[in-house]
Amino acid sequence: MSAAIASDVGLPGSGTCPYLVVRNPDTVRDVLHRPMEFSPANALLAVTPLTGQALRILQKARFALPPVLASNDTETHAGIRKVVAGFFTPAKVAAMEPRIRGLARESATAAGRLLAAEGSVDLVGAVAADPPAIVMLEMLGLPVRDLPALKAWSLDSLELFWGWPDAGRQLELARSAADFYRWLREMVLESVAAPETNLFNALARHGLSTPQICSLGYFLLIAGQETTTQLISTTLFRLAEGSRGISWTEAASAPKARDLVRHILATESSVPTWRRVASQDTVLDGHLVPAGGEVLLELTGNHGFPWADTAGAETSGNDRPGPTPYGLAFGSGIHRCLGAKLAELEAAVVVHETAAALKGVRLRDSNPEWIRLLSFQAPRTVTLEFLYS
Ligand code: HEM
Repeated sequence: MSAAIASDVGLPGSGTCPYLVVRNPDTVRDVLHRPMEFSPANALLAVTPLTGQALRILQKARFALPPVLASNDTETHAGIRKVVAGFFTPAKVAAMEPRIRGLARESATAAGRLLAAEGSVDLVGAVAADPPAIVMLEMLGLPVRDLPALKAWSLDSLELFWGWPDAGRQLELARSAADFYRWLREMVLESVAAPETNLFNALARHGLSTPQICSLGYFLLIAGQETTTQLISTTLFRLAEGSRGISWTEAASAPKARDLVRHILATESSVPTWRRVASQDTVLDGHLVPAGGEVLLELTGNHGFPWADTAGAETSGNDRPGPTPYGLAFGSGIHRCLGAKLAELEAAVVVHETAAALKGVRLRDSNPEWIRLLSFQAPRTVTLEFLYS
């Protein structure tokens, strides 16, 4: 590997990084557009190898993630993607806007009441958590139930697969993932038998088996809502912090709220990296990547997986928002995110409605704990209080 590529690509073996880290956006796009050479087969693999005990807990729940969509590198991907895409067409997303706005307004009003009653409110729980989950389940034709459990399971599964849990923590997370999977299988069986169209019976009609539908459901029921919750959380945190050149009052206008969301997507998205693996010896920017070499693609700025150098890891607090294209935040090519339009719309509407509903507020905790996983990031809490409290 020469210096020319090493400036954009971190080498495996530097520290303990097992990945070839690709930072240059053109090179990232190049990798994403060569799916035959750079397979997504490792997209959902556990970053930290699971212990025997954790694996046994998962096996007992018949937990399995056969490649179906995000990690599927076979010719079956296109047909399955088409079935899922049918639930998120641009027309269907646009038609959901009033419902999204209604949910966002309801949450923002409730957040205002909580703030008045208690003197502070955590916006992650109050406005970011539920609307994306409700909207996703409704669009998929699935029952809206057990939201608190779904949110907790999502965070646990992200940590199990994209974090660095030690053996003890793996047991807790594996139990949670097993509970989630059992709950999901029940929903799959019930939905496949339901007369009305929903994602799961559409996939069954397409020929997918129950384990394949569960695998897709496990990915989508997390990816289709928790990532958006995290994008909303980071956007509201940066807005309240006042570090992105848009004031709280300005964000009460729809275009400013949308600009801010796009700026966060471009600089500090909830999914800052994604993985690929070389399926054969292949050449990237004139340099050999050996078969089996795992590649970590930087999609947007991030807060530092363990091997990120600080230069690439922190976004400057002085960044100014503008109509920045957020290029790679949703990936690119044949696996590009199917929820991009929905996620952007939900985030912009929730930020807009929250800024409009809560007046005269400031951050109570400017240094909250963050979720920092290999491919996911967001503040765990965004706590506000009144300016003059
Ligand atoms: C801020 C929110 C979100 C972000 C940052 C995000 C990001 C991503 C990224 C980076 C990928 C991988 C793309 C690639 O491999 O080229 C992806 C795939 C995917 N996302 Fe999202 N996503 C978000 C929200 C959503 C939502 C709301 C849904 C659906 C309701 C969704 C559904 C999917 C699906 C189905 C795939 C796999 C597509 C395929 O493999 O063909 N995502 N997303």
